[in-house]
Amino acid sequence: MAASSLSFILLCLFISFSISNAIVPSADTFRYVNEGVFDQQDDIQYPPNAEYTTTYRSLDLSTFPFRLVFYNSTPNAYYLGLRMGTTRDESLMRWVWEANRGSPVRENATFSLGSDGNLILAESTGQIVWQTNTANKGVVGFAIESNGNIVLKDSSGNFVWQSFDSPTDTLLVGQTLRVNGGPFKLVSRDSITNNVNGAYSFVIEPKRLALYYKNSMRYWSSTFPGLNRANATLVNATLQIAEAEYEENNFHVLQCIIENARQFFDRPILAFGRFQYNSSLSYLRLGIDGNLRLYTYRRGVRGDAWALLFTMFDGDAKTSRASDDPVDECQLPSRCGKFGLCEESQCVGCPTPNGVLAWSKDCDYKLPSCNANSFKYYELKGVDHFTVKYTSGTGRTGIDNCKNRCTKDCKCLGYFYHTDTARCWTVNELKTLTRVGNSTNLAYIKTPIN
Ligand SMILES: *[C@@H]1O[C@H](CO)[C@@H](O)[C@H](O)[C@H]1NC(C)=O
Ligand SMILES: *[C@@H]1O[C@H](CO)[C@@H](O)[C@H](O)[C@H]1NC(C)=O
Ligand SMILES: *[C@@H]1O[C@H](CO)[C@@H](O)[C@H](O)[C@H]1NC(C)=O
Ligand SMILES: *[C@@H]1O[C@H](CO)[C@@H](O)[C@H](O)[C@H]1NC(C)=O
Ligand SMILES: *[C@@H]1O[C@H](CO)[C@@H](O)[C@H](O)[C@H]1NC(C)=O
Repeated sequence: MAASSLSFILLCLFISFSISNAIVPSADTFRYVNEGVFDQQDDIQYPPNAEYTTTYRSLDLSTFPFRLVFYNSTPNAYYLGLRMGTTRDESLMRWVWEANRGSPVRENATFSLGSDGNLILAESTGQIVWQTNTANKGVVGFAIESNGNIVLKDSSGNFVWQSFDSPTDTLLVGQTLRVNGGPFKLVSRDSITNNVNGAYSFVIEPKRLALYYKNSMRYWSSTFPGLNRANATLVNATLQIAEAEYEENNFHVLQCIIENARQFFDRPILAFGRFQYNSSLSYLRLGIDGNLRLYTYRRGVRGDAWALLFTMFDGDAKTSRASDDPVDECQLPSRCGKFGLCEESQCVGCPTPNGVLAWSKDCDYKLPSCNANSFKYYELKGVDHFTVKYTSGTGRTGIDNCKNRCTKDCKCLGYFYHTDTARCWTVNELKTLTRVGNSTNLAYIKTPIN
């Protein structure tokens, strides 16, 4: 008995000893320094062109058509990004993953994999900016998989760490969002020049996939009626490619499949359409503008490597090949700037207390002060806020209650009321209002009395 438990303990010691001693063979460790000339600056005929930037330094870490690169959009502020596309495509290359959004590194920063298995992005001073925290966790090697997943593997080939678990604004085919444990969402980039988290997010929740402005203002969500009927919840959503069953050869359907905790017959799917390409090299991007777009990479199509397959909010919905109905662009919170009236994807008016004027990008509201005696409301008929379509507002309530809620709340800029359903929305951001031509939909905007 004693002997066997002793040997058991020894066995455990041996196992933990050998795991903690698994090391990355020296031939597979690496250390890249962010220094030297930029890629192909002298190639005037076909300057290598990539999203947001023109300068970058490629690392010797790649799997077609992906490559790890130090890139900058402002001087001396570099990001370690995964580029999709090659210079030979003569097409705009895309950034589909990055390690250090919001925390740029400087010249001479290093990207290294040590023998302990930790992947580190550090300044030249040694200060660590980003790391995988995988030291002594059994990592024996690094790879960029053919689907663009950057992985650290153990000796059995399992992923100790994978870039697919830390997305920024992009989902590649095979990449998953999960309700439990995450990753929960994609977050937009703030602007072309400012690489920090922006205002939009694409989130998986137990009952829906949803788009949010500033984390709380929902401007789109999936409708999965079967989900509530079956009292079921979402588990994960994976960007997948599936061959269309009843279509001619080589047609494909790209879809986001959501599995369920229990037996559930119609698995909810967001179908992004049918395409004539083998589109397994595709990505879904939450754009700077809060729109969701699906692109596919067409190998060997010079000058035109990318095809836009699906746009969630589409001004030209009639010509879209998508099977799920695209939503009008007016549903995008910032379509008409700080404040504007939108109709059929066009900005058509600038609401003011004196009536609706012609829209311009300067169209704005006047900030009311907190004191209820210092502001009044003006009415707009047949208008909805961008949050109205995909949220339920309050339950049945009177229009006076709705008004009071807004009046008492200093941050409230206006309220929206549907007279037919007696529902109420109060909002802290106005942004884009949609003209709906329905006189039951009323908007009341706060404005200073003087
Ligand atoms: C980067 O390192 C090299 C070599 O040590 C050095 O000559 C150069 O000045 C450094 N560049 C910057 C911007 O610090
Ligand atoms: C639905 O699921 C919840 C949580 O799993 C459970 O508490 C509830 O009883 C279920 N309702 C029905 C009608 O099955
Ligand atoms: C998604 O959830 C299902 C059900 O729990 C599970 O079998 C599957 O492995 C999950 N997929 C991923 C990629 O996590
Ligand atoms: C589509 O591309 C994938 C990955 O490149 C490949 O495995 C598959 O065989 C291709 N399918 C067809 C029908 O060409
Ligand atoms: C106005 O909205 C109500 C409820 O949303 C709807 O039933 C009705 O058909 C709409 N009327 C018009 C003219 O669109």
